[in-house]
Amino acid sequence: MEPISLSQYERVVFFTGAGMSAESGVPTYRGRGGIWAQYRWEEYACQDAFDADPDKVLAFHQQRRGRVLACQPHAGHSHLAALQGAHPGLSIVTQNTDGMHQRASARDVVELHGSLWRLRCARHGRIEDLAAAEYARRACAECGATLRPDITWFADSVNAAVFARAQRLIEQAQLFVAVGTSGIVYPAAGLVPLAARGSARMIEINPDQTELSGLFAEHVREPAGTAVPRLFKY
Ligand code: APR
Repeated sequence: MEPISLSQYERVVFFTGAGMSAESGVPTYRGRGGIWAQYRWEEYACQDAFDADPDKVLAFHQQRRGRVLACQPHAGHSHLAALQGAHPGLSIVTQNTDGMHQRASARDVVELHGSLWRLRCARHGRIEDLAAAEYARRACAECGATLRPDITWFADSVNAAVFARAQRLIEQAQLFVAVGTSGIVYPAAGLVPLAARGSARMIEINPDQTELSGLFAEHVREPAGTAVPRLFKY
């Protein structure tokens, strides 16, 4: 595929998943070395597990945060952030909770599955931004409940306002680029058919075929770290 000048598109959405951060050393969820092949999500990534043993679940997520902090954004993250700086209509919608786009200076990232760097009260929705401070048991100032990671676990609902914002951006997009997502976790994966129903140019960047590959007109079977800088210019 020839390099694409983004200036010809008024509205552009990059929709990213765990594969976007893979070359930084952040493990993906599925596939070789995937988190869910090593850990049972039922024990570490659902509200029931947290209610049963908050310390165990917090420790798991603290370990993930440590791993992420030891990783650095790669050339693909940096290039995407620079493109966003040059193009006011470029949005980044991510399923990632690792904050790598922001560390590469991207702004206003739409985080569909929340962030590993925040805690939240499951009852009141109060959010505490911890940045890199260690996860430890913290009580909600309103109800005293133990705050949980502000990320979307299995059987959780996504944040409706954040999801609605992603839908609006995607409905208006003239170019939609999915990077490094297996496209099997809904409702996030449903944003791809939403983009395809409109008139957006559809590009998939992923070394492997995915469940949703058929919805894309163009496929780039390369890793994100080389494909994103090579293919997109302002
Ligand atoms: N560049 C691009 N894509 C890559 C790379 C790379 N270097 N390495 C791997 N991939 C692709 C894989 O081929 C796979 O299709 O990234 C995808 C990662 O898929 P998942 O691990 O399933 O990640 P994701 O799609 O983001 O998962 C969605 O599932 O468990 C939940 O909440 C979690 O947000 C996550 C959601």
